[in-house]
Amino acid sequence: MLNNFAVCDPLGIDYPIVQGGMAWLGTAELVSAVSEAGGLGTIGSGDAPPDWLRQQIRQTRERTNRPFAVNIMMMSPFLADNLKIVVEEEVKIVAFGGGNPGVYLAGLKEAGIKVMPVVSSVALARRLERLGADVVIAEGMESGGHVGETTTMALVPQVASSLKVPVIAAGGIADGRGLAAALALGAQGIQMGTRFICSEECIAHPRFKEQILQAHDRATVVTGESTGHPVRCLQNKLTYKFTELEKRGAPTSELEELGRGKLSLGVMQGNIEEGSLMAGQIAGLIKEIKPVKTIIDDIMAEAEQIIDALNVYKSKG
Ligand SMILES: Cc1cc2nc3c(=O)[nH]c(=O)nc-3n(C[C@H](O)[C@H](O)[C@H](O)COP(=O)(O)O)c2cc1C
Repeated sequence: MLNNFAVCDPLGIDYPIVQGGMAWLGTAELVSAVSEAGGLGTIGSGDAPPDWLRQQIRQTRERTNRPFAVNIMMMSPFLADNLKIVVEEEVKIVAFGGGNPGVYLAGLKEAGIKVMPVVSSVALARRLERLGADVVIAEGMESGGHVGETTTMALVPQVASSLKVPVIAAGGIADGRGLAAALALGAQGIQMGTRFICSEECIAHPRFKEQILQAHDRATVVTGESTGHPVRCLQNKLTYKFTELEKRGAPTSELEELGRGKLSLGVMQGNIEEGSLMAGQIAGLIKEIKPVKTIIDDIMAEAEQIIDALNVYKSKG
């Protein structure tokens, strides 16, 4: 059995596998299933209002006594209110996505909350470690959703070499090979989003799940670079339209208008052409919808086999 992962004790989990907070999809159903299976589930508060977040925290607690996290998006219009909710509801672990949460770290630490920011650069990782981050998630541009510019392969070892706190690798990981690779790069665990969408417990629309199962290695595209908020999604009519507008130099306001409300249209209502289907490059590897527990158990078993098999490269003499 693989063990001794530096992230498991501080987070109170059995396996070094985190379900990344996903707007609309990181709900009590998925979060509690991941935490019950020994990983760390994360509620994705996205742009959702405080009442929704409070309800999800409470519903998660009804389903599991295990630790879970709440992901707060820096672009959320409810950022301040949602931070109040996590303190009031005594959430133990907070993850941040989509920016620099530096100014909020001291307050959360004072409240006894562990902080786990998502970063896409060494500079931000270092700054947040200085400000008290407990674990840093280094996310490469392969990932679904908002992305940076550096690949997981290049980012993770550079972040791991720069920090003392444990690093979790995210972006482009969906199986035991990905976990073994992340460990080799100096991470202490993995965060996955796209793989967990294709779980039985995720409430994503079946048509969105099916699009991931049908995806090939080049099925995703990044749009929104001109707005400063690039996002990786499965290609469809919406991404073509978005790319065309960006090529024509359309103003940010027009692009924002086109993107408004499109994530729920795609991932919840199953409008696979007009909606936004955020997913990572690893979508092409995912061929089956499985229960969360099977996903986690399979990854742990496969990583162990791979690590053993790598011994073949050691010389005998
Ligand atoms: C549909 C979707 C929604 C996401 N929403 C968020 C979010 O609200 N906050 C965040 O920090 N990351 C978000 N992410 C990123 C994931 O948490 C995770 O880091 C990423 O999916 C990892 O890469 P992978 O998709 O290759 O596994 C989202 C990803 C997807 C696919």
